[in-house]
Amino acid sequence: MLGTRVLVTGANGLLGQALVRRLARADEMTVLATARDDALRPSIACDYRPMDVTAPDAVEHTFDEFEPDVVVNCAALSDVAACDTDRNRAWATNARAVKRLARHCNNTRARLVQVSTDFVFNGNRGPYDETARPDPVNYYGRTKLAAENHVREAGRDRWTIARTVLLYGTGTNLSRQNVVLWMINQLRQGEPLHVVTDQRRTPTYVPDLAEGLYRILDREATGIYHLSGPDPVSIYELAGAVADVFGLDPDLIHPVESDSFDDAVERPPHTGFSLDKARSELDYDPHGLRDGLRALRDALASQDP
Ligand SMILES: NC(=O)c1ccc[n+]([C@@H]2O[C@H](COP(=O)([O-])OP(=O)(O)OC[C@H]3O[C@@H](n4cnc5c(N)ncnc54)[C@H](OP(=O)(O)O)[C@@H]3O)[C@@H](O)[C@H]2O)c1
Repeated sequence: MLGTRVLVTGANGLLGQALVRRLARADEMTVLATARDDALRPSIACDYRPMDVTAPDAVEHTFDEFEPDVVVNCAALSDVAACDTDRNRAWATNARAVKRLARHCNNTRARLVQVSTDFVFNGNRGPYDETARPDPVNYYGRTKLAAENHVREAGRDRWTIARTVLLYGTGTNLSRQNVVLWMINQLRQGEPLHVVTDQRRTPTYVPDLAEGLYRILDREATGIYHLSGPDPVSIYELAGAVADVFGLDPDLIHPVESDSFDDAVERPPHTGFSLDKARSELDYDPHGLRDGLRALRDALASQDP
């Protein structure tokens, strides 16, 4: 087997699928996709083995057998509300498992690329660059910040933290819907959408993030990188763009404020990223929001039976 040996965790998630698809085109890389399931859900020509990142024996065997040069950790409990209600599982998956991966990487001199989130910030003054100080406002953000700290502590100079923002895209049998697919489904069914005006993000088309991660691997880039879409919008404005690009009824979209949801987990109001570092060091060039939504529309059309 040739080239850099890349171990991908969480390969059946939204990002994991897109990343494995991108890396499968890289002849210079030998990729092992891992996830909790018996098989890789999309049909991509790529080696696969089941691996639960919270299972120490499974992780150890995978490291022993595959001997990765680099690990990209896409596994996470990414549902913010679920993290708040099931804190043990959230900590085990998002923090403790990353500590173990970081230790294995350190012991074997493998590099570790940890995927993280804008939710490590409090959202008082976005968009954020890589030097901004984290200050999470909810449990999900705390678990992801703990993971970042584990990666830095164990990894000496061989770590990368790639933070991203509100992912949208499609995949095969995804276990979680993303916000854009949810908006499309609601509007297609003629259901009203109540969406907030007071949370701003830079939504990220998931193949762009996969391309950014490929560039991190290819250039052996270390340190922190912010990889998101380029356009800051409120969730309300995002819904308007979705309706426009997908030809759906904008009158179904109703603006609300975050405090109208009584039981909602606190979320950072104004995040989004500055992409200057990623643009200059990685030549990262993501789709603008409407172009990304058009690319998603084309991808969904090609999936339809
Ligand atoms: N989605 C967003 O908007 C967003 C925004 C910022 C950052 N991020 C970060 O981006 C990364 C990828 O997120 P995503 O959107 O691709 O999430 P996702 O679709 O939920 O994918 C995460 C994957 O991790 C898997 N997983 C969960 N527990 C696991 C375990 N114990 N062992 C192995 N795999 C496990 C899940 O498996 P199952 O399919 O079996 O549940 C799922 O396939 C995460 O680090 C997330 O924190 C996401």
